[in-house]
Amino acid sequence: MAVLSLAERLSAIAGQAFEAEGLDIAFGRVQASDRPDLAQFQCNGALAAAKQAREKGSGTNPRAIGEAVAARLRDEDIFADVSLAGPGFINLTLTDDYLAGFAALVAGDARSGAWAKDTPETIVIDYGGPNVAKPLHVGHLRAAIIGEALKRLMRLAGDDVTGDIHLGDWGKQMGQLIMAVRDEMPDLPYFDKDITGPYPAESPVALDDLARLYPQASAACKADTAKNEEARRITAELQAGRPGYIALWRHFVSVSHAGLKREYDDLGVTFDLWKGESDAQPFIQPLVELLESKDLLEESEGARIIRVAREGDSKKIPPLIMISQDGSVLYGSTDLGTIWDRKQSINPDRIIYVVDARQSQHFEQVFRASDLMGLFPEDRLEHQGFGTINGPDDKPYKTREGDALPLRVLLDQMKTGAVDRVDTSLSERGYSKEELADIAAKVGMAALKFADLSNPRTTNYIFDIDKFLSFEGKTGPYILYAAVRIKSVLERAGMAEQGSAVMITQDAERDLVLSLAAFPDAMRQAYEKRMPHILCDHAWRLAQSFSKFYTNCRIADEPEPAVKASRQVLARTTGEQLELVLGTLGIAVPDRM
Ligand code: ARG
Repeated sequence: MAVLSLAERLSAIAGQAFEAEGLDIAFGRVQASDRPDLAQFQCNGALAAAKQAREKGSGTNPRAIGEAVAARLRDEDIFADVSLAGPGFINLTLTDDYLAGFAALVAGDARSGAWAKDTPETIVIDYGGPNVAKPLHVGHLRAAIIGEALKRLMRLAGDDVTGDIHLGDWGKQMGQLIMAVRDEMPDLPYFDKDITGPYPAESPVALDDLARLYPQASAACKADTAKNEEARRITAELQAGRPGYIALWRHFVSVSHAGLKREYDDLGVTFDLWKGESDAQPFIQPLVELLESKDLLEESEGARIIRVAREGDSKKIPPLIMISQDGSVLYGSTDLGTIWDRKQSINPDRIIYVVDARQSQHFEQVFRASDLMGLFPEDRLEHQGFGTINGPDDKPYKTREGDALPLRVLLDQMKTGAVDRVDTSLSERGYSKEELADIAAKVGMAALKFADLSNPRTTNYIFDIDKFLSFEGKTGPYILYAAVRIKSVLERAGMAEQGSAVMITQDAERDLVLSLAAFPDAMRQAYEKRMPHILCDHAWRLAQSFSKFYTNCRIADEPEPAVKASRQVLARTTGEQLELVLGTLGIAVPDRM
């Protein structure tokens, strides 16, 4: 496959020039220019090379090295300009012919120039992480959106990726719920120790009941230690397999499952696996045995723990509790069991957890414990955390009652806002009600996802519907609009003949080609840093370049056939790449709007 990264191609050429000067080929690294008004690309290698020479005791200055390398590069006919700036930066500008030829390569590429990894990996992404019986809240939104984007990005790069939702279905909240149902309906057969089944096929509780019972139960346990103890005991009995509890718990899981599925469908988020913490249970005993054989389990106040602190730790890392004093397993032990399960069933090269950054200590404990016992190497377990979505007060978004805002409420706000904006402009143009609703849903989702993903993953951001839904600025709707406009331009102008040449006659075309060419590098960076906002930046740049191109260059009514064909090719290529990027971000584009 041709390498469709301009920066990589230029790095290879500049590297040879450095090598010819007796210097390391790696100094030839070329990147997009920091000063696009002066040059398209730059190479800073002369400075690094001079520094290295100085350390070795020879006195070459960076400008001299820069001059020598630049002189060699001037011999290449692909450059329109090679110049030296400041203490030794080499500025590079390509000829329009070279750029046009490169654009034709991207136009002919079925992957729109997307970067492909040399050695793809098998990867599990653990994201979503909702809890049974609890409706999704705003905190789950980022896990879903970012996890989905990373999954698609890694697939596009060539990895074999499995997305697993990792349901919270096995912790203390399950015991609390069983207790709450028993307190309301003590006569159900699930609670009678003498009955071992079969149990009713119909669930005694609906989703609404769970949503009502869970907060009640959890408040009761907080207020009353006896209740709390009882819930723990019930949890331990559930985990030990008491038939009535298991049967009731299965109802909780399947009722929640249906509700969650609907919510994730609305978000356009899909999981390959709907496994949960409970699926780790069969691996707990083997884990304990492995830990025992390695002498890694310690008794502490009736619990069995793994010490994971290390000398030189800058902060205190408490031990991971493998088995609590009442015999139940906790969040850390189920995560270890899940690693075992994944190793056995998928055998991944790497597991990535897309989970709130505030859980970093938990993952530190799990990863260290896993490494200690030789289960899975720590350097192939990644916690890719994210910041919080904040309210206008810049604190994590809460309801007036102080609970985390339910996701439904947030999505409804978004939807209503989108309907308002879309309706006013389109209903007069004869769009049907259904199409308008579909467009509004897509605009709302694009606004939300783009706003979320365009912030660096690790930072917090403020939820601001008006800003997210604006058709101006770096927003989802702006970029969606650009993608739709390209479709309509092509509809009017038609497609160019297969293989039509690209020609650069104007600044806006040159700029658009450079934007298209920046895709593989942006994608690679987004991939390597696990940072989808880098892809958002690329989509924004591409949309802006297209808008400039559209304003300055005639397409449908361009009289010169070769110029028209070239512009058709550029428009089509831009549309394809933009849709690919948006699709990778999980953003769907309507046919028109
Ligand atoms: N259910 C957890 C929560 O709501 C998130 C699970 C994240 N994944 C994991 N493997 N621990 O906090």
